[in-house]
Amino acid sequence: MGTMSNTITFFGKESFPLEMHKVRIVQKLRLAPVEERLSAIRAAGFNTFLLKNDVVFMDMLTDSGVNAMSDRQLAAMMMADDSYAGSMSFERLRETASAIFGKEFILPVHQGRAAENVISSAFVKPGNVLPMNYHFTTTKAHIGLRGGKVVELYGRKAMELTSAEPFKGNMDVAALKKLLDAERDNVPFVRMEAGTNLIGGQPWSLENLKEVGALCRERKIPLVLDASLLADNLYFVKTREKTQAERSIRDITRSIADEADIVYFSARKLGCARGGLILTGDSALYESMLQFVPLYEGFLTYGGMSVREIEAMSVGLEETMDFDMIRHGPEFIAFMVDELVARKIPVVTPAGGLGCHLNAREFLEHVPQTEFIAGSLAAAAFIAGGLRGMERGTMSEERNADGSEHLSEVELLRLALPRRVFTMSQVKYAVDRVHWLFENRKLVGGLKWVSEPKILRFFSGRLDSTSDWPEKLARKFRADFGDSL
Ligand code: F0G
Repeated sequence: MGTMSNTITFFGKESFPLEMHKVRIVQKLRLAPVEERLSAIRAAGFNTFLLKNDVVFMDMLTDSGVNAMSDRQLAAMMMADDSYAGSMSFERLRETASAIFGKEFILPVHQGRAAENVISSAFVKPGNVLPMNYHFTTTKAHIGLRGGKVVELYGRKAMELTSAEPFKGNMDVAALKKLLDAERDNVPFVRMEAGTNLIGGQPWSLENLKEVGALCRERKIPLVLDASLLADNLYFVKTREKTQAERSIRDITRSIADEADIVYFSARKLGCARGGLILTGDSALYESMLQFVPLYEGFLTYGGMSVREIEAMSVGLEETMDFDMIRHGPEFIAFMVDELVARKIPVVTPAGGLGCHLNAREFLEHVPQTEFIAGSLAAAAFIAGGLRGMERGTMSEERNADGSEHLSEVELLRLALPRRVFTMSQVKYAVDRVHWLFENRKLVGGLKWVSEPKILRFFSGRLDSTSDWPEKLARKFRADFGDSL
């Protein structure tokens, strides 16, 4: 397949991303009336994680475990080899994954954070320093549980939410050098996260990864790659990094994996299945991690996954090597971002992977950060359109050691576009409802904790509105839209 033949030129003036797949299995949706949406979000403690799915119209919470699967994946799931030990499904995964990433040893785990648990158990000791381009919630929690400290070494441009910088996920290599000089033997590994989740699904360049890789090799410190969002990062390397434009996705993947000593990922994201995987080419690193898989996950040939998911993962990983497959997400996200920008709605640019990220701090300028701006916007977007997004801001942080709120550097509402799930008209509907909300943003107020778990509080914590603003917003919706949905 030629690398240049993937663009489609339209005869008319309008240009838009075109799906290179067709839909053959559908799930019926219901759009609940605004009053029902209001009572549902109240009942859910204003936490979109606690909503029941039957009141959700567009589930934009995450891309995790909800990407559309292919006919080939479903077919493979029918041929899975169920066996506690020595499953041939696992052998097929070993063959596929080892070939794609060029790493001999693989360890199966039940999902991405389980890989983080295994890696942290094997390598993180109290007082260790863990440099990374940016943290992810579960990564930081697992490292923190073992007394390690995450240090984020993102570049200057990472926090500029509106920008033309193509690689905001890059690591500041000079800062890494400085840190490694200062901490010497106190750094068990360096972590690079593909498609940097919490800053808006922003990628790094292969050039930057190579610089980080070279420095790690020089210092003999393992480089760990979180490849959960690799599909999007691959798309951006190919389309934004001039030197990579002509290379196949498979070749780029291999160059990326060659820089890392350990690759791990959530297969709920990469490979459009469920489960997770750790890969390494280094037998000593493999031995250090090995014991934790039977302890926490399951035997070494299933790791807590069903064999059906293992088969789906093999096929999904192989399909990820197809540019037509991985382009769909980022191109739909770019379409949505462009539509929002055209309406002057604050959104993270350039468009990244995973989803569309609203800049809640600008959207709700009048809400103080201590009242959870992004959480408030998440609740408001659900009331406005049955859109279930995810707060990525202060609620997703953990409190400081002294108990004070750790105010997040960015306050984002992520509206995820799980891969190949939503149609163009649904994306246009989401834009329309966000637009209405933006026009009525002054009606939105803040939130306060009612019950707050200590660890990963955003998953199950409950909040209340600081006033009756949700009721006012719902009433305005009813007044503007009459008796329609
Ligand atoms: N690393 C990254 C970059 C992730 O985005 C995630 C999950 C994980 C690790 C953990 O993987 O969920 O399979 O245990 N991100 C999900 C999200 C939760 O919605 O962004 P997991």
